[in-house]
This record gives sequence, C-alpha cells and structure tokens, in this order.
Amino acid sequence: MASAKHEWSGWRTAAERALYGAGGFFRRPEGPAGHFRTSVHASPLFARAVAELLTRVDEALGRPAEVALVDLGAGRGELLTRVLALAPGLPHGLGGRLRPYAVERAERPAGLDGRIAWLGTPPEGATGLLFANEWLDNVPVDVAETDADGVPRRVEVDLASLDGAERLGDPVDGEDAAWLARWWPLAGAGPGLRAEIGHPREAAWAQAVRSLRAGLAVAVDYAHERAARPPFGTLTGFREGREVRPVPDGTCDLTAHVAMDACAAASAAASGSGSGLMTQREALRALGLDARRPPLALASTDPTAYVRALSAAGEAAELTDPGGLGAFIWLLQPVNLPHEVLRP
Ligand SMILES: C[S@@+](CC[C@H](N)C(=O)[O-])C[C@H]1O[C@@H](n2cnc3c(N)ncnc32)[C@H](O)[C@@H]1O
Repeated sequence: MASAKHEWSGWRTAAERALYGAGGFFRRPEGPAGHFRTSVHASPLFARAVAELLTRVDEALGRPAEVALVDLGAGRGELLTRVLALAPGLPHGLGGRLRPYAVERAERPAGLDGRIAWLGTPPEGATGLLFANEWLDNVPVDVAETDADGVPRRVEVDLASLDGAERLGDPVDGEDAAWLARWWPLAGAGPGLRAEIGHPREAAWAQAVRSLRAGLAVAVDYAHERAARPPFGTLTGFREGREVRPVPDGTCDLTAHVAMDACAAASAAASGSGSGLMTQREALRALGLDARRPPLALASTDPTAYVRALSAAGEAAELTDPGGLGAFIWLLQPVNLPHEVLRP
C-alpha cells in the first residue's frame, strides 16, 4: 500500500504561497472586501480621517508641490478612491498636489481612477503620508510551539494534503530564537504555548518607512504588546466573512495579530525618529471623528439632516468601538517631519 505523501513546511512559506502565489487568496477577483470588513469598508468616515491626517502632514511639511498618499496593501484601491472623492475640498489646493499610490501584490483592478498609480513596492523618496491598514497582519510569519519539555519548535504544516494538518519540526534557532527571546519569550514555559515569530514584519515595515523621504508612516492593525502576548498565538483564517481554521490552500485569508511594539522599535531605528502607538479610538477622535448622537431637536427641525447625522454617528461608533475596530493599534512613524501631527 502506498504511504500518504507529506510536504512539511513552516507557516511562513505556506502562507506566502497560499496568499500570494498563483491563484492565491489575495489574487482572487473578489479582493479582500469579499471576505472581511476593514475600517476602510466600514465607513467613508475612515477616509475622511485619513484625509485630515494628510492635511496635517502637508502643513507640517510646508505644503510641498507634490504630496504622496501611499496606500500600502491597498486591496482594490478603496481608500484612495474615497480620499480622491474628498480631494476638491482639501485646504490650500492639497487636492491638486496629491499623488495617490496604491501598493499591492494583486493586479490593478479594472476601472480604477486613472490618477492612482498602481505599484508593487512603495515609491522611493516620496514626501507625504504612507498608510498601511491591515497590511502587516498579512505579512507571513513562522509559528513556534513549545514541546513537552518546554522547548520552542517550529510548527510545520502539510503542503501536500493542504488540510491544515500540523506537526512540530526542529527547535527554533538563529534569528528566530533571538526574536522570540526579545519579543515573545517562550523558552521554559509549559508545553503547548505558541508564538508568531514577527521579524519578517519588522523588516517589511522598516523597509516601507525607509522609502519615505519625509512625512509620516502609519500602520494600523490588530495587535499585541510584549506585556500581554496571547499564550496560544493568533494565527487564524477568514473566508466569506467567517472565521475558519487556518488552511493554506488559497481559499481563506491567513492572518495573525501584529507584535506592534516590535515593529515600532524597528521603524524608529530605521528612521532615527521616535515612534508612537495609540488605539484607533484615540487616533480617530484626535482627527475629529465624532460618534455622539445628533441632538433630538434636529429630528423635528431638519429630519433629513438628523437621519444623516445619526447614520454617521453609528459608523463612527463602529470605527471607534473599544471592543472592535477602535481597539486596533495605530503605529505612527515620523520621518524628517518638523513637528508632531497626531497625539491622543
Ligand atoms: C487585509 S487586506 C487590506 C486591504 C486594505 N488596506 C483595507 O484596509 O481594506 C491586505 C492587503 O495587503 C496586500 N499585501 C500584502 N503584502 C503586500 C506587500 N508586500 N506589498 C503590497 N501589498 C501587500 C494584500 O494583497 C491585501 O490586498
């Protein structure tokens, strides 16, 4: 009887193939919006807040002739499309000076606004705002799990069966072990604890930050910090709006929360300026998002305006919900920016 064939690999390689290889999940025609809802899809108010942030960056930079808005991991260009719709109303002619760049591994979607440049990597030497919403959680990473003796070993997944079956591989060593020791200590812990080894994200983020000549780089994601890492890791899958078992067969998203403190340290080192972390709730409020209900009196004086304001307040509440999108972390990395533009 022929024995079943296996092809064991770490999750980093498996996710790279499943998400971005030929026929990979993020290359599918429906795009990320077909499977999950980000802040960008939740409400146009998110684009409005990004436009406000861009306006502040423009002012801090002294209103240069060209101001880049680089959307890293742009999906199908939804955020840039919404910001462009606001461009005519931006102050000091910013709309005319705006240069929108979508950076994506997927193909340019048909019918996208011709003003949006579609690139595979961030433009070099841009001046402006680089914004990466829910990008870092999709940068593939390896997973470690402690064995019966508490030794962290690489988790391997079967690329032959593609059913999500896992086994423990060799003990984690080298750069991976050094990263765990610094950012997500597992050694000596009990058996069965897991960690996602985040250094590929730090490298990707630091490289993106280095592409900016001057301005602000912002990464927004679900995240954790060293003092409270999740004991069993966070690797999971999403398909058509539902959380599913992570299987590297190209039919579902494969995502893990981001060790944002480690990314913040990496970009601070790359840029030579300090970085900051705040919640999305704090960031959006500081950018003027108002989730308060409109006064009831408006319902009788101007019912249409009341309904509009009520719906906007509902969307703002979703974006700032401390139990949902509002708990996302914004990592702010200035690059040669003369002064701070956002503080909680
Ligand atoms: C979760 S989606 C987020 C889309 C969009 N930013 C939003 O918030 O709706 C992540 C996107 O990042 C893209 N992506 C992942 N790694 C990338 C890379 N190295 N360069 C460019 N795009 C990347 C994926 O193709 C995918 O479209």
